[in-house]
Amino acid sequence: MGGYGDVQMIDENGLRMDGRKPEDCRPIQIETGVIPVADGSARVIWGKNEVIAAVYGPMEAHPRKIQRQDRAVLDVRYNMAPFSTSDRIRPGFNRRSREISKVTAEALESVVLLELYPRSKIRVEIEIICAEAGTRCAGITAASVALAHAGIPMTDLVVSVASGKVNDVVVCDLNKEEDNYGEADLPMGILPNTGELVFLQMDGDLSQEEFKTAWDYNMEAAAKIHEEMARALKGGEA
Ligand code: CDP
Repeated sequence: MGGYGDVQMIDENGLRMDGRKPEDCRPIQIETGVIPVADGSARVIWGKNEVIAAVYGPMEAHPRKIQRQDRAVLDVRYNMAPFSTSDRIRPGFNRRSREISKVTAEALESVVLLELYPRSKIRVEIEIICAEAGTRCAGITAASVALAHAGIPMTDLVVSVASGKVNDVVVCDLNKEEDNYGEADLPMGILPNTGELVFLQMDGDLSQEEFKTAWDYNMEAAAKIHEEMARALKGGEA
């Protein structure tokens, strides 16, 4: 993919516009219990991204036509607040938010023990308060912490992060300029305990070697992000 190769995003010292080295992830901070009326909730502040996830349920699934006799359904809604970016986001569902809600639900369905709750529904609301690229990853990460905080049985958490390529350099955890003007984007959803993948989307072109580097950067970042998720779930203790 052509991208905007003339936009210089790596300086002469090999550093990115926000001062990070190619392999660095943006700082991340996670807190649970931020929506006291929800059964589980989490706030993720990741670079300039801010995401809140709230979980309600398991509850009886309504209307009955959405019920599954053998398992619960995950009802996931990803939404960007109108004020979350410089262009006001029109309230309501659009194609992008539907797509992100769907891939998020599929990633989370891989870890939640849905068969324990036949005919039920678990509602997962993801609200993007501030967006700086990688919001689908921040949303999946926040939702998996909120599900664990709600006490929903899961085989693992899901950590999601997107590496990519800018100015022919593979970089970890793209920020907004890198996402907009870069040449490739590789968001992945990773199970931290096994290294299995439950979600992968790729935009743009990467050579086999670049793909391997982006993959490794995502895996390394996921291990660090998982530490912060675990810390938040233990009530903030290190
Ligand atoms: O957020 P994510 O990288 O998962 O998804 P994207 O569709 O690649 O969007 C990248 C970024 O573009 C978002 O995080 C927002 O900062 C911005 N964006 C926007 O300003 N307006 C939109 N309607 C959609 C995205």
